[in-house]
Amino acid sequence: AVIIMNQGNTPERSGVLTNVTLIGANPTALDVPVVGTSFDAGAALAQPGSTATVSMFTENNPQKNVIAELPGRNPDNVVMAGAHLDSVPEGPGINDNGSGSAALIEIAQNMTKLKPQNTVRFAWWGAEEEGLLGSAAYVEGLSDEERDRIALYLNFDMIASPNYIYMVYDGDESTFEAPVVVPEGSVEIEDLFERYFTSIDTPYDDAEFSGRSDYEAFILAGIPAGGLFTGAEDEKTVEQAEIWGGTAGEWLDPCYHQACDDIDNVSLDALETNTDAIALAVLAYSYSTELVNG
Ligand code: PHE
Ligand code: ZN
Ligand code: ZN
Ligand code: ZN
Repeated sequence: AVIIMNQGNTPERSGVLTNVTLIGANPTALDVPVVGTSFDAGAALAQPGSTATVSMFTENNPQKNVIAELPGRNPDNVVMAGAHLDSVPEGPGINDNGSGSAALIEIAQNMTKLKPQNTVRFAWWGAEEEGLLGSAAYVEGLSDEERDRIALYLNFDMIASPNYIYMVYDGDESTFEAPVVVPEGSVEIEDLFERYFTSIDTPYDDAEFSGRSDYEAFILAGIPAGGLFTGAEDEKTVEQAEIWGGTAGEWLDPCYHQACDDIDNVSLDALETNTDAIALAVLAYSYSTELVNG
């Protein structure tokens, strides 16, 4: 199946994301008709073994979250990974955030044959660009019991910026003001990603938890969080260009929130390196979250 990014109602606002199938799911959970795309949702969702809801959006339809779950042996310990599926109206949103969305669907697809220890839940958020609405609504909608089952949340928003630097969300320091604290355990997630980059001899830096992406609701709910980011509208410094290559003085994503955030606006190197990192983290935590949750 092919997922067409964005609201999908005009060609300029659409971009082919990648060749994907959704992981197995319950077709009755398809609560909104898929519109204006070649997405073969019925077939993709007919596979047994997990549940999902899927919707694509038009301007007349509200945006919705897409949730897909791979059941583990333990339904009471849930590892979540999320990426926002919407873009700004100005462009197709391929790096922001087709990149994170594609990485997750690729990993989800490749995990369908596994029955891990923990339950893995993927989220493709709607309406991030309107103010983190999809992820906030999701977390607010959880009962205390459901919230307590979530061991951790991994966020992937812009992971293939053309003028990238590799960044890992910093679990020990943030711009959140007291009394909000980044939950303990977040630092363990940071550490796992950093060990991955070290193992492949690739430099990394911290990304700040600034409240600018969908991890926010999880942090506010006390759920340990982490993730990757390759940069938006910050100019690359000379020092960064020496470390990672690319062009000093240009934005890390020169097409950030613009029409040119199209299918050419990705570093395939960054996408591959980061997708491997995400796969490692999701797989590791699907087997144990002990380091994060104690
Ligand atoms: N959430 C921002 C967006 O989607 C991207 C971003 C994340 C920018 C983190 C800065 C820091 O546009
Ligand atoms: Zn954005
Ligand atoms: Zn984004
Ligand atoms: Zn740190």
